[in-house]
Amino acid sequence: MSPSLTVSRIAAHQGSVLRELRTASLREAPYAFGETLEDALLVDPSLFDDTAALHAKAPRLATFLLYTEGHPCGLVHAYIEEAPSARAFVSALWVAPAVRHLRGGELLVNVASQWLVQQGVAEVHAWISEENRTAVRFYERLGFGPTGDRRAMLSHEEEAESLFVRHMHV
Ligand SMILES: CC(C)(COP(=O)(O)OP(=O)(O)OC[C@H]1O[C@@H](n2cnc3c(N)ncnc32)[C@H](O)[C@@H]1OP(=O)(O)O)[C@@H](O)C(=O)NCCC(=O)NCCS
Repeated sequence: MSPSLTVSRIAAHQGSVLRELRTASLREAPYAFGETLEDALLVDPSLFDDTAALHAKAPRLATFLLYTEGHPCGLVHAYIEEAPSARAFVSALWVAPAVRHLRGGELLVNVASQWLVQQGVAEVHAWISEENRTAVRFYERLGFGPTGDRRAMLSHEEEAESLFVRHMHV
């Protein structure tokens, strides 16, 4: 039987959960992100507490956690850039390998996107590594399409990432 998957916004006290999920994602899928595991391990753990407290309540920044039977097993960040661009993004998306292909990623991105829409945006963006064909297919299936914008990845400068956008029906 498939485990039941749920998503909720991070709570202020979940800094250690955030640190655990983020380091697990960087260890398991280093090709996918602009930060390295070494970077994350150098960060003082108390900063994850600060981030969780901020992302639990802030109007332009949030983290959503995926749970299977009550256990954290994935995450996504959502944020809105400062004006004048005020573009909205999802980032740092990761689902633990044991629960992939069960629509947990879709649930995370949809909940984060709906939250961004509630904050007043009409489009949601995501930077995706061009090497990460799984993520490209995953986002395309959710209605994201390429904007044509590209840049070098922060963590692996020899690789490029592309900016995708989904127009939300608001
Ligand atoms: C991308 C990711 C979040 C998808 O999570 P998920 O919970 O498996 O996603 P869903 O079950 O909602 O959707 C899966 C769909 O994505 C695509 N997909 C996922 N994994 C795939 C793979 N290995 N090969 C091809 N397509 C894949 C398919 O369209 C798939 O549909 P299917 O399950 O019917 O074949 C997950 O694979 C992951 O964490 N990858 C490592 C980190 C990463 O790449 N993050 C994205 C950074 S931009």
